[in-house]
Amino acid sequence: MAPTPLSLAVCLFPRVTPSDYQNTIELFSFLSPQVVASGLYSTPPDVTIEATYLGVTSEPIHGDSGPRLLPNKTYGDVKEGEQFDIILVPGGSGTSPGLLPQPVVDFVKKQAPGAKYVLSICTGAEVLAVAGVLNGLRATTSKAWSCLKEDCKDMGVIWDPKARWVVDGKFWSSAGATAGAEMGYTFVKHLVGHENAEVARGVVELSVRGKDDDEFAKLYKLV
Ligand SMILES: *[C@@H]1O[C@H](CO)[C@@H](O)[C@H](O)[C@H]1NC(C)=O
Repeated sequence: MAPTPLSLAVCLFPRVTPSDYQNTIELFSFLSPQVVASGLYSTPPDVTIEATYLGVTSEPIHGDSGPRLLPNKTYGDVKEGEQFDIILVPGGSGTSPGLLPQPVVDFVKKQAPGAKYVLSICTGAEVLAVAGVLNGLRATTSKAWSCLKEDCKDMGVIWDPKARWVVDGKFWSSAGATAGAEMGYTFVKHLVGHENAEVARGVVELSVRGKDDDEFAKLYKLV
């Protein structure tokens, strides 16, 4: 049987942190239709992931580091009624109040209810909080710059100050960039099982710590 394709929207914006999404999509790339069809797996996964990178404009985006990023299309190009299966929101200095572009917030607000999964890395959780989609839910975020302290402490989210990542229903949120890789691996495992997830983990040589085991909670005096 042909694998079920899952569409993924990666929400980019000026001053996004590339490693927030790069680590995660590196793992997801093992589920691209090409890789799944390549014979890498002894029992091929029954889902594939195809990513669309969204930008506020179609111009190259300046992230917090690295070369400029070219989105596939703009938030405005997403057609009425077009629904992504997975929404991924990375963080970055661009999520700060006053910098976060409204089209990103509007997109999340519109897409989250119909999405199968909504993922955030680092201060990407702040975008979800601003969009109001984490109301009453458990989530975590960057330990260094965070909602755990001032910006969005009181946004109706039950913030977990200690977690490396948190899963509440279809919402998956992680702490800073490298925690996104560990959450990404766990998400891949959720989608395609342990054996196939280990293929990707093995290639990128990712070491995964416990979900509740974030040493940075202590460093930033959150626990
Ligand atoms: C978006 O761009 C990337 C990088 O060029 C490409 O691999 C991917 O297939 C594109 N996604 C879609 C849905 O066109």
